[in-house]
Amino acid sequence: MKYNIALIPGDGIGPEVIRETCKVLDAIGEKYGHEFNYTEVLAGGCAIDEKGECLPEETVRICKESDAVLLGAVGGPAWDHLPGSERPEMALLGLRGQLGLFANLRPAMLFDELADACPLKPELVSGGLDIVVVRELTGGIYFGKKDIIETENGVAAYDVEQYSEMEVRRIARVAFDMAMKRQKKLTSVDKANVLESSRLWRRVVEEVAADYPEVELNHFYVDNAAMQLVRQPKQFDVIVTSNIFGDILSDEASQVTGSIGMLPSASLATGNFGMYEPVHGSAPDIAGLDLANPMATILSAAMMLRYTFGLLAEADAIENAVQKVLADGYRTADIAKEDETPVGTKKCGDLIVAAVLG
Ligand code: IPM
Ligand code: MG
Repeated sequence: MKYNIALIPGDGIGPEVIRETCKVLDAIGEKYGHEFNYTEVLAGGCAIDEKGECLPEETVRICKESDAVLLGAVGGPAWDHLPGSERPEMALLGLRGQLGLFANLRPAMLFDELADACPLKPELVSGGLDIVVVRELTGGIYFGKKDIIETENGVAAYDVEQYSEMEVRRIARVAFDMAMKRQKKLTSVDKANVLESSRLWRRVVEEVAADYPEVELNHFYVDNAAMQLVRQPKQFDVIVTSNIFGDILSDEASQVTGSIGMLPSASLATGNFGMYEPVHGSAPDIAGLDLANPMATILSAAMMLRYTFGLLAEADAIENAVQKVLADGYRTADIAKEDETPVGTKKCGDLIVAAVLG
């Protein structure tokens, strides 16, 4: 089979981690008889420099024409002086909105080999940790009405948190479907003791639950959820929540694993279309130095094979290859302990390619 992938290397370490990921995808292609065609497009700071805007129309068009999008990272200090609405990060919001990527899957798992990196007491995470945050990605306060206005007390600004039943229903379905494939436990996170939008959220999640009698559903207020994630993270299987709460809780969950350089993510639209990217950012301080950990992006490509292309064995092959490289004792600088000699970005990619082909 042939698959067309739009590549957005982006800024900082983005191009390096994307390069290694393509090597791994090509190895998968070779082994399983697939052809991955890549079209590179600009978004983020590099697009501002070359085209004067962070998300050129051509980028969106090519992404829409492709089967999936693979993104490295965007942003960096070179563009920090720009006003909020012109910053490279706006490319992400534009892609999410224009590609209809309403469901953001952010797994937070603790690799056995990296258990030491977890900042929590070992007894809290014994036996590993495997949580998926399902974050609503195209609604809520990120995309609601916003303005700066004059009031009698001077200038004021507002951002509106609004959810429709349809928006809650479709993200809830994604989360319940995910729970069905896992431990059948779903936690919906809201602030229903205060917010009207959260009360609607909770009501709709309850309605959808009727279609999933096997899934054990509970509801947490967001403040409690933030606390429980560090108090007893193993109680969670799938967490579903709004755009802004998901932004915050997914960062917290990733930090609980201690290895943000390892964590992939998927942003899905209706149908099988999706955009895949590492959870980490552009890490401009180490860009171009062959120090970046490409594993999060490589694992994002595994998610792409699984969710968009339905290539389950191939996705497993990538994940097993990463696991093998870790088990063999190889570490990039971000996950190496003091007494370990780290491998560089390229070498890490080569090792994963060898493990795929081996
Ligand atoms: C994320 C990021 C983005 C977000 C920013 C960069 C716009 O924090 O993907 O979590 O807030 O969604
Ligand atoms: Mg975030």
